[in-house]
Amino acid sequence: MPRKIFVTTALPYANGPFHIGHIMEYIQADIWVRFQRMQGHELFFVGADDAHGAPIMLKAESEGITPQQLVARIAADRPRYLKGFHIGFDHWWSTDSPENTELSQEIYRRLKAAGLIYQKSVEQFFDAVKGMFLPDRYIKGECPVCHSKDQNGDSCEVCGSVYAPTDLINPYSTLSGSKPELRSSEHFFFRLSDPRCVGFLKEWLSTPQRLQPSVANKAREWLSGSGEQALSDWDISRDAPYFGIPIPDAPGKYFYVWLDAPIGYLASLKSYFEAGGPRTRGERRSFEEFLGAPDTEQVHFIGKDIIYFHTLFWPAMLKFAGAPFRIPDHVYVHGFITVSGEKMSKSRGTGISPLRYLDVGMNAEWLRYYIAAKLNGNVEDIDFNPEDFTLRVNSDLVGKYVNIASRAAAFISRQFGGTLRYAGDTAALAEEARTLAATVAECYAAREFGRAIREVMAYADRINQGFDARQPWVLAKDPARAAELQDVCSRALYGFKVLSVLLAPVLPQVASRVARELLGLDADFRWADALVLPTQIRPYKHLMTRVEAKQLDALFDAPAAPAAAAVPKPAAAKPATAAAEVISIDEFKRIDLRVARIAAAEFVPGSDKLLKVTVDLGTETRTVFAGIKGAYTPEQLVGRLTVIVANLAPRKMKVGTSEGMVLAASGEAPGLYLLSPDSGATPGMRIS
Ligand code: 2FM
Ligand code: ZN
Repeated sequence: MPRKIFVTTALPYANGPFHIGHIMEYIQADIWVRFQRMQGHELFFVGADDAHGAPIMLKAESEGITPQQLVARIAADRPRYLKGFHIGFDHWWSTDSPENTELSQEIYRRLKAAGLIYQKSVEQFFDAVKGMFLPDRYIKGECPVCHSKDQNGDSCEVCGSVYAPTDLINPYSTLSGSKPELRSSEHFFFRLSDPRCVGFLKEWLSTPQRLQPSVANKAREWLSGSGEQALSDWDISRDAPYFGIPIPDAPGKYFYVWLDAPIGYLASLKSYFEAGGPRTRGERRSFEEFLGAPDTEQVHFIGKDIIYFHTLFWPAMLKFAGAPFRIPDHVYVHGFITVSGEKMSKSRGTGISPLRYLDVGMNAEWLRYYIAAKLNGNVEDIDFNPEDFTLRVNSDLVGKYVNIASRAAAFISRQFGGTLRYAGDTAALAEEARTLAATVAECYAAREFGRAIREVMAYADRINQGFDARQPWVLAKDPARAAELQDVCSRALYGFKVLSVLLAPVLPQVASRVARELLGLDADFRWADALVLPTQIRPYKHLMTRVEAKQLDALFDAPAAPAAAAVPKPAAAKPATAAAEVISIDEFKRIDLRVARIAAAEFVPGSDKLLKVTVDLGTETRTVFAGIKGAYTPEQLVGRLTVIVANLAPRKMKVGTSEGMVLAASGEAPGLYLLSPDSGATPGMRIS
């Protein structure tokens, strides 16, 4: 019986482009989905943008646009990546959609009716200038333990202490610089600690095969925590102004973004059903009928940082919302991707920009293959290493796999008009393929992609060895041995077909070309095709090139430097400490130096040096492109005070116009240090 599986990947925040971590997750899920489809199962694979929350609201505000405009701009960019990496979502939607509003409010109403929602007054910092309650990340102040200034609301980066934002000395809002005041407000809570939730989750977590053992253990630990670690109820509301879904019958209250985010999985599926997608694939049921059917399966692929939400809140919400909502059948968790061992930051991504990868002409299937080769079913981080990447692609994919077809097909086309003929018994040939296909299928199903690739490549080695051992190039010179030559090449090409079928989930484009162009089939491969010996081929067309060193250089190198960075780099020959020429006080006074607060900072696509920084001068905001990417991440900058040259003529750069200059110190040794005034200074103050 074909299985009916609804598959999702974590919904990315709609405040920035995809980074390599997103692409890795999508590739993992896409391989699994393609594999299941090749087995004849029916899958609905959907994604969406996670549109709500304070950061998106504030980012839009700092750009002078509405959150909807920001989300639309980000969404418009998604297809380039998804198409580029052959990620075949059936549908991509948004959590800021009517479907999600309706579903979130419905689920909330049902949870409320089940007695799992309650209200409680919460005391929280409020920014009176901005007129909003402050999420912890927008509060800074002096560490109560070591007294370091400008520490985050939850922990000190200097001494490592962990505390509540209310413990900070001289707290300030990074949004306005003002001193926040404590105010109380009514919040809505989901009663996760209710015995019904705990009881249900215990059972859900213990269902064999549902979760990876390490994930189930982690969730069980959270569930049974006591004392400080006790399971808390979940604050699901936020006060206006907030970009989110209104809570029914609670004016001015919105769902916290994490409540409606996973419901976005269902909203995307619903929107797909309403757009008629499933109908064109023979699914005639409504969204509700499909979702509520006993044999539908619901599978989520996520990263290890969001296990809590997906193994506690999400199943509990679904369970107590009731039919047609269903509890997740599986939550498959993966680790992070590092690049040459460097850890990735969630907002910054890693050294590899997925778009750049495509733009420098690198083949998406190389990356799919490389990632597949590294992934297994455990929650382990994987590393992208350029040398290893080159080696695997060039030696496995080109040297072992594609090479079989290019060599064997040449003889068959030239000497046998494209006809394959096998001499003697082919039973052993088919049997080997059958066993291999069964093993590889188990690997794919269990997300043991690395093992699948190893099995497949070991088979490629055997095919190559068998081919070489019979020396077809010698046979080709002797017309009396033509039948032998035809047999050697036919067997090799059958092997190549088997490889292509088994690699099809990873290399969908190459496999499709093998099926259609080389073998003349009128459909893409299904798994069972691995057992069918081909009898005819068409002339071989080149399938894949090798990775070149210069492509990797282009991937990691800085793009052509823009005409000028706002922070001048000292010329290597001239020490930064060399004294400059003497000027008068009047000359100095001509420079308008001002205190500014960094309101927003973001990466500049394609630039390895620049950050786009929005500075708040008290009475106006400016955009400055600063060459400080090597020293700071946008996250480290937002909220801090610095000094800018405010009367510098605007400077047109490749990436936009820079309206000022951020001041930073640098010496002969590497390192760049942004200037900041002592606490007490406020945006717009003149420096003299
Ligand atoms: O961590 C994140 O990037 C979230 N946007 C993931 C949400 S997954 C799901 F719940 F929508
Ligand atoms: Zn400290």
